[in-house]
Amino acid sequence: MVLQDVAPARLADSVHRLIGDYRSGAPATEPLLRNMVDATAYAAYRMPATHAAVTAALEQLPEGLAPASLTDLGGGTGAAAWAARDVFGRIPVTVLDQVPEALKLGERIAKGEGFAWQEWRLGEPVPGADLVTVSYVLTELDEDAQADLVAQASAAAAKAVVLVEPGTPPGYRRILAARDRLMADGWHVAAPCPHQLTCGMQGRDWCHFAARVNRSALHRRLKDASLGYEDEKYSFVAATREPVDVPGRVVRHPAFRKGLVTLQLCRADGTVGPALVSKREGPLYKAARDAEWGDRWPPHSD
Ligand SMILES: C[S@@+](CC[C@H](N)C(=O)[O-])C[C@H]1O[C@@H](n2cnc3c(N)ncnc32)[C@H](O)[C@@H]1O
Repeated sequence: MVLQDVAPARLADSVHRLIGDYRSGAPATEPLLRNMVDATAYAAYRMPATHAAVTAALEQLPEGLAPASLTDLGGGTGAAAWAARDVFGRIPVTVLDQVPEALKLGERIAKGEGFAWQEWRLGEPVPGADLVTVSYVLTELDEDAQADLVAQASAAAAKAVVLVEPGTPPGYRRILAARDRLMADGWHVAAPCPHQLTCGMQGRDWCHFAARVNRSALHRRLKDASLGYEDEKYSFVAATREPVDVPGRVVRHPAFRKGLVTLQLCRADGTVGPALVSKREGPLYKAARDAEWGDRWPPHSD
């Protein structure tokens, strides 16, 4: 079954139910994707956004990490598999999920890409890989299951673990808990934090980023949306075996005034606050004008 096989009204019904389920924030007591129509609806209205968020998160891994394989836990229809393909090229990918219809649909969409699709439930053995991704899955689990999933990801990864969640306060808190667990396992936080300290936003703000997603006509129809794009807000942590040197990160949209750019920065000392870059600073000012939410700052350590 692909998009054209399902009546738009059935897809729309499924989209509306899924939106309600995901917004409820309650841990799922049974799989939220119940059948092929749900899997198709998910692929049509959510997968472009989760793909964009995972791509943006993977792009923050250090240059040169070059994972030679990926295991994607709770991979559904394969958003992270495609993201890894976009960022790292043709590496062997295994997508694990509990919903056979999601895997079947993902396999059909990715025909010829060579991804491996495997039915799997949390707690079952995980094939090891250089990179393990977990995207928008913690949100469906209770706290104990979240801890188990992070432990499985941590144990299965040789070089890096990347976790992505919705960019909401609860999504951020799940990422913070996962970050603590990964650090306790000896991982280094490569992004977004430029440090291994307590998050400087805790208690007053939440760390999140945005990825631009172009909406297809079907996507717009399913979401009753008129804009040709949406900004997917996401929180994430990327952890590596080796420490990574990042001086700081831009954690909000920069603000521009004549001759002055204000960057809200997360800094290596764990603090979060504004940095003003004025025209008098020449090349740094030019770089600040080009800086975007989520970028490292300064852009190069020299
Ligand atoms: C919101 S979807 C995310 C899918 C995909 N990772 C993405 O980013 O588009 C959550 C996925 O996690 C899977 N999942 C949730 N709990 C699971 C469990 N206990 N074992 C295996 N998969 C699970 C669901 O079946 C679903 O495909």
